[in-house]
Amino acid sequence: MQRILVLGAGGHAKSVIDILERMPDREVVGVIASAPAADATHAGYPVLGDDAQLAAVVERHGVDGCVVAIGDNWTRARVARMVGEAVPSLRFTTVIHPSAQIARAVTIGDGTVVAGNAVVERDAHIGAHAYISMTTVVGHDVSIGDYATLGPHAVLCGAARLGEYAMVGAGANVLQNIVVGEHTVIGAGSTVTRDVPAYAVAYGSPARVMRQRQAGERYL
Ligand SMILES: CC(C)(COP(=O)(O)OP(=O)(O)OC[C@H]1O[C@@H](n2cnc3c(N)ncnc32)[C@H](O)[C@@H]1OP(=O)(O)O)[C@@H](O)C(=O)NCCC(=O)NCCS
Repeated sequence: MQRILVLGAGGHAKSVIDILERMPDREVVGVIASAPAADATHAGYPVLGDDAQLAAVVERHGVDGCVVAIGDNWTRARVARMVGEAVPSLRFTTVIHPSAQIARAVTIGDGTVVAGNAVVERDAHIGAHAYISMTTVVGHDVSIGDYATLGPHAVLCGAARLGEYAMVGAGANVLQNIVVGEHTVIGAGSTVTRDVPAYAVAYGSPARVMRQRQAGERYL
């Protein structure tokens, strides 16, 4: 049994905890929050401290691994870097719901979460600290960059490529071989029929680039 610490105490963390609870070899030790109240709990688990207390918490509670459970791509990356600096020996675990269907020859990076009923087809590559929401489809030969997110019910058709920090909104469809650039956000419900450059916000069917965005700009 791996004892897992969850970093993040918002709604997204609840989703990740729910998946961890369904994995037979993981046990949630507790949660790290940015501003914990005394005696606080989150989704039924104790809030053990804040970022500054991370090293002490890991030692005191015999933590084997952690996951950064923060929905915003940019913030998730910042916290992952903080963990690497504070406790270099702490490894990031992958979190995969038992109902997810992962084909052979798929690679999934450390710290990535794959939620319930996701389907990941053969030869897909998913980077580190990505979030693959429930009921998504990741087609064969798809490539998903580090810190990217696929919203609920989104579809990446075969050999599509999603850059690092990019986000495909709920229910959006990205057609085969399409490239979505890094840091780009695809709006919910869109149909992406042409490549979308990096650092853009695009939506609609067919999706059009509506504006530019900067790294770290809020999108949720
Ligand atoms: C696209 C998005 C990022 C917003 O981008 P934005 O540039 O900040 O756009 P705004 O919210 O200012 O809206 C601008 C206009 O676009 C429309 N619009 C926004 N998102 C849209 C979408 N996905 N599809 C079609 N139209 C959309 C708005 O209704 C608004 O129209 P109006 O000017 O007629 O009122 C956001 O709406 C979105 O779709 N986010 C994804 C949410 C999601 O999937 N969450 C799942 C959590 S994992």
